[in-house]
Amino acid sequence: MKRLTLILAAAAALAACSGGQTQSYCFTSPDGKLEAAFILEDGVPQYSLNSCGTAVVLPSRLGFDVRGNVKAEKLNYGANRISKSDMNPSYMLDRDFELVGTAEDSFDETWQTVWGEESEIRCNYNELLVQLRQKESGRLMNVRLRLFNDGLGFRYEFPDEQALVYFVLNEELTEFNMASDNECWWIPGDFDTQEYEYNHTRLSEIKAHFTDKMRGNSSQTPFDRQGVQTAFLMKTPEGLYVNIHEAALVDYPCMHLLVDGKTHGIRSYLTPDAQGYKGNLQTPAVTPWRTVQVTRSATEMLSSRLVLNLNEPCALDDVSWIHPVKYMGVWWEMITGAGSWSYTDEFKSVRLGSTDFASATPNGRHSGNNTHVRSSIDFASAHGFDALLVEGWNIGWEDWANNDKDYVFDFQTPYPDFDIEALNDYAHSKGIRLVMHHETSSSPRNYERHLEAAYSLMNRYGYDAVKSGYVGDILPQGLHHYSQWMVNHYQYCITEAAKHHIMVNAHEAVRPTGLCRTWPNMIGNESAMGTEYQAMGGIAPGHTAILPFTRLNGGPMDYTPGIFETDLSSWCGNDSKVGTTICGQLALYVTMYSPLQMACDIPEHYKEHLDAFKFIEDVAVDWEKSIYLDAEPGEYIVAARKPRQSSLSGSAASFSKGEDTWFAGGVTDCSARDYDFCFSFLDEGCEYEATIYQDAPDADCYSSPKAYTITNMKVNSESSVSVHMARGGGFAISLKKCR
Ligand code: NOJ
Ligand code: CA
Repeated sequence: MKRLTLILAAAAALAACSGGQTQSYCFTSPDGKLEAAFILEDGVPQYSLNSCGTAVVLPSRLGFDVRGNVKAEKLNYGANRISKSDMNPSYMLDRDFELVGTAEDSFDETWQTVWGEESEIRCNYNELLVQLRQKESGRLMNVRLRLFNDGLGFRYEFPDEQALVYFVLNEELTEFNMASDNECWWIPGDFDTQEYEYNHTRLSEIKAHFTDKMRGNSSQTPFDRQGVQTAFLMKTPEGLYVNIHEAALVDYPCMHLLVDGKTHGIRSYLTPDAQGYKGNLQTPAVTPWRTVQVTRSATEMLSSRLVLNLNEPCALDDVSWIHPVKYMGVWWEMITGAGSWSYTDEFKSVRLGSTDFASATPNGRHSGNNTHVRSSIDFASAHGFDALLVEGWNIGWEDWANNDKDYVFDFQTPYPDFDIEALNDYAHSKGIRLVMHHETSSSPRNYERHLEAAYSLMNRYGYDAVKSGYVGDILPQGLHHYSQWMVNHYQYCITEAAKHHIMVNAHEAVRPTGLCRTWPNMIGNESAMGTEYQAMGGIAPGHTAILPFTRLNGGPMDYTPGIFETDLSSWCGNDSKVGTTICGQLALYVTMYSPLQMACDIPEHYKEHLDAFKFIEDVAVDWEKSIYLDAEPGEYIVAARKPRQSSLSGSAASFSKGEDTWFAGGVTDCSARDYDFCFSFLDEGCEYEATIYQDAPDADCYSSPKAYTITNMKVNSESSVSVHMARGGGFAISLKKCR
């Protein structure tokens, strides 16, 4: 039942003493537990949010700082230097508003997912639309607020036919004023990368700890010692979990947050363009949704689908070609340094069209070669995978990175030792699809120039999924990975790919904001520190116990789990400190949801532990139902999932097809834990065969990562079992109902 109350303001007394007027509109979530207010105080729009009477977001301002004009610049002649400035002064779109009208609505619908953590999702909210007009200028701005049981979403809307048509933002001024010095989990705000480990501090401590976990990246632009990225997870002193993010980031720059450690105030900080402006808009326009999820437990936060619910329904009529993918790769050997993407060491500089690869001497380390790809296809096929990624298949890798090179790849021409037609034919004969790789080296113009040909080539040879990548600074120089222009580029690739029935997994792209609901061919993204960093110095335990709360909030991550050989130094001389156990890796197939899951290690390493590898073979990647059983951010996550029958394939189909099966997993941080796992989610009165993969008592992510036990037992919904998780480790369980 929707409830909307107009409290025409606290009013007379306040108005009398302030000389102004306050109008407040309060409404509640469908379950009545959250209460949001829109407040217009002396013409200044604000909002606030309470949970069961506890303030979560104190009154916080809304609005924009807008550039004076879009194009009219004047030339200023100094003694020597000549500069440009706007003809008109900038103006504020955060004050002097009057109320034009309000409208209320409520919505309750259950929608079917194309893939996901569950086959259907309920979208249930109460809505308040506030229509505002700036008194003197006549500019119109609406704020639409949607209150769900698990949080608030709101966005700005600029109607058509008004005083405002084209405008450029200096900054969005949305505030999220916290009521307390909350605990928070954050990575540094950066316009170009999210490949960082998480910090856990209070809001007031961000500044002091800003550089604690900094590490280098080939494109990196942190902007303020109190700048953080979303999804920004907090825990209040009352024990509420609060998560700030955005939904439906389309044609707008990505939002970062600027925290004031003294006041606990937070405000939006958009990614600038090359000139420092922060978004070009043309009315009618809407911004992305600003989201504040609020839950009473960590497991409810992991189950929140608010971000997906604020995205538009699926834009595609035919989704029959979109499917989950479990894949292996000719990849880990390049990342660890055991092999190379490049074909030859002969060229320091490559010019596509004139560099002659046919007569070059191969370097002997090129991983994407016919023989190796064939044997990798054989292994992936024998173990029931769907696909094999091959990187380094195309010419240009000899000088691909960090050279600000425009024409770096053509996405068309294979190296002499990669027979694209024969390898695809061979893969198809074995039930495997090759996954295409398009590293763009952050030269998006070059990529767009070749996109149609590149996707057509994929269609010609039967590729239906591409991993793209944006390593290095963006060309043209000055643009950032998370700027409006790049946001539009990523979206263009998704929509063009859909025309070719191609699924996209973009690395280094802007973080997901739930757009996979609208464009389900967007089956993966990286946009965070992934497994590759285990081979680039290592990742401290606990990272995968925070990512599902933060990075995964907006959509799945191609985390690429599956390391079985953690001693990289004896294998390939890489001395990174890999912080995981074999069972910790198995758990990730359950705890890190993605419809695109990789087994990243090489066949030789899996062959040494085929009993543990069986879990990766059996596990599904698309689910009818998911249950988060227990969690604490950055510490541990325990989840159980029931496969979606309609999308099972390969060895996962052999295990689960037509059967009642479940998969469970748990990960821990640097603390070893013995966990009492309860099977209460199973059908009552039925027996299940459980296979339990857990760290051995002496396992440890650094000293004994390969020590595990595998046990079989019969369980029912009343059973529980104590499972061991070593430091940096975890456990995994497969369950099949006994007939
Ligand atoms: C970075 C990506 O994250 C990684 O997966 C890829 O192999 C390299 N770039 C090369 O494209
Ligand atoms: Ca990366």
